[in-house]
Amino acid sequence: MTDAITRYRADWQRSHHDRDAFWLRAATDIHWSAPPQRAIDDRGSTWTWFPDARLNVSFNAVDRHVLAGRGEDPALIFDSAMTRESRTITYRELLESVSRFAGALRAHGVNAGDRVVVYMPMIPEAVVAMLACARIGAVHSVVFGGFAGAELAARIRDAGATTVVTASGGLEPGKVVDYIPILQEALDLSGGDVRTVIVKDRAGFPTALPSSTGAGARWVDWDNAQEDAQPVGVVQVASQHPLYVLYTSGTTGNPKGIVRDSGGYAVALTWSMRNIYGIGPGDVFWAASDVGWVVGHSYIVYGPLLAGATSVMYEGKPVGTPDAGAFWRVIAENKVSVLFTAPTAIRAIHRVDPELDLLEQYDTTSLRALFLAGERLDPETYHWIGEGLQVPVVDHWWQTETGWAIAANPLGFGAVPPKAGSSSMPMVGYDVLILDSKGRPVPTGKEGNIVIRLPLPPGSTNEVWGDRRRFEDAYLSAFPGFYATGDSGYLDSDGYLFVMGRTDDVINVAGHRLSTGALEEVIALHQDVAECAVVGIRDALKGQRAMAFVTLKVGVATPEQQLHTQLVELVRTRIGPVAAFRDVLVLDRLPKTRSGKILRRTMRQIIDGEPFKTPATIEDVTVLDAIIASRSVSIAT
Ligand code: COA
Ligand code: AMP
Repeated sequence: MTDAITRYRADWQRSHHDRDAFWLRAATDIHWSAPPQRAIDDRGSTWTWFPDARLNVSFNAVDRHVLAGRGEDPALIFDSAMTRESRTITYRELLESVSRFAGALRAHGVNAGDRVVVYMPMIPEAVVAMLACARIGAVHSVVFGGFAGAELAARIRDAGATTVVTASGGLEPGKVVDYIPILQEALDLSGGDVRTVIVKDRAGFPTALPSSTGAGARWVDWDNAQEDAQPVGVVQVASQHPLYVLYTSGTTGNPKGIVRDSGGYAVALTWSMRNIYGIGPGDVFWAASDVGWVVGHSYIVYGPLLAGATSVMYEGKPVGTPDAGAFWRVIAENKVSVLFTAPTAIRAIHRVDPELDLLEQYDTTSLRALFLAGERLDPETYHWIGEGLQVPVVDHWWQTETGWAIAANPLGFGAVPPKAGSSSMPMVGYDVLILDSKGRPVPTGKEGNIVIRLPLPPGSTNEVWGDRRRFEDAYLSAFPGFYATGDSGYLDSDGYLFVMGRTDDVINVAGHRLSTGALEEVIALHQDVAECAVVGIRDALKGQRAMAFVTLKVGVATPEQQLHTQLVELVRTRIGPVAAFRDVLVLDRLPKTRSGKILRRTMRQIIDGEPFKTPATIEDVTVLDAIIASRSVSIAT
């Protein structure tokens, strides 16, 4: 055993067997207005980390570093490959903007506990808005820009938001994303609780603000609001006070509002920055994700700033903005120490620049490690990029629900020997087991349901917004005493975890989590569709993509190509471009068992070219022939 493994395992043991002492020790890295005397109040299916403590997360992420004399250190580097703008914001400047915007929010009636939806592109004002909410104890709920009006409306409604912060425009390759009409549609759909919309009029994307949204809310210009506002101080909140609600796809069409606490999250992220990523003050950390995802919350905003490091905020893509050397340019120009992205981004670079010729043009010697997450890291991509960059490549596995890695290679300990295809070891506080469908432990090396023994460690959720029952039903009911991750995988004899895929209807398209149930609900809205089933099929670039199998109502005469175009457009306008939906197969009947269960797994296996067994209970075996035949023609158009 290496030193790193021995030392890491000792900490893992302590986090379970001497749990309170371990986490109270970790909590000393945070500034509390009332420091914790107790680590946890554990009540079985629910728990509270640091139940008697109070803090402010924004203070820990910003003020604290200024008070420590580090005000002139860079907090945020905004690098836009779209506009070629690069801007560094110091901790002092960030504090000034955050405390002023917090004042603006307060002036517009936002108080502790109120929900603020942030619907913004990747610009520094998104970070300012999030930290400003945290400063006054308001709860932010960031919605990814690639979602359509209806999805935005569902989130505004469920969160009960009274304020929305947005911007006049975002940039995607070849197009400008106009946020205002999407938001206007969402406000109309959401039913009118929003009182104020604050808009950052982004240079180059002027927008004339109407006096009201039509749904009764007032438009306010960001710059005016900032100018008029008085900076405000921090509001100390209880450790369990929600810092944010982040919606994620579940098995149904209704997204789940994952609630993040304040104290547990701050402690967990701080531990993770040092011990997983090996990052501290003076380091530059770059999570090439979006503030709309959990990776953005934890590792563009809160993690690096809590650690007193510099966070890079990148507006652009891995390829095409302008080329497949974009990531290497950002690393070289900003002296990035650690990069975190999704495997799909690396596959995109591989596709365009398989010899990594563009890497030669940049000095990337500042880079110490590459972390990947969001989907399974295939061994081919793992080896290719590791050999190319000549730095450790770390696959780590986590979920919106956990907020930080469940399994990783803890580089802060010196790194355990990696294994291709594995996200290494369960992290401190995570007791990971593999169970069969009846809840019995499976032998080492055998695949099963990945579960985590309760309670989950600090930082992980234990609540779905507004619905305590939903948390229990979705995560705790399948395996009593354990959190069901929804992923399947196995542990090997060295304790390494291999995550193989989902056991439910969630799919991962380019690292974006989508629900096939939600896609089915939208496709079923089409007037010609009788029945539909959506499955996630293999995609060489995006890992997975959605494919819809539909049957039509009797007498439908719409030409198939037209129907196809309409369905693609329907998903785009109802869910959003992020679904990247384009595959449709029209069938006479869906393959089902005699009891009426649609054979989604068999359909996916056929399309993916995997061996499949025809279920004995199939209603009509000839239905499968049409799916098999479809493989010999190009499915997508
Ligand atoms: N706002 C508005 N629209 C957005 C958007 C945003 N923030 N992000 C993506 N979209 C749109 C895109 O413009 C595209 O629209 P189109 O169909 O009109 O072209 C669609 O959503 C799909 O976008 P994307 O998923 O980015 O696919 P792509 O084919 O444009 O690019 C990759 C493929 C691999 C380069 C890209 O997915 C990528 O960089 N992935 C990195 C993964 C990642 O960041 N994951 C986050 C979790 S860590
Ligand atoms: P999200 O909540 O969007 O972060 O998606 C979480 C899901 O992404 C997990 O449940 C997994 O299915 C998948 N995932 C994330 N990271 C990994 C990884 N390193 N390996 C395999 N799957 C992953």
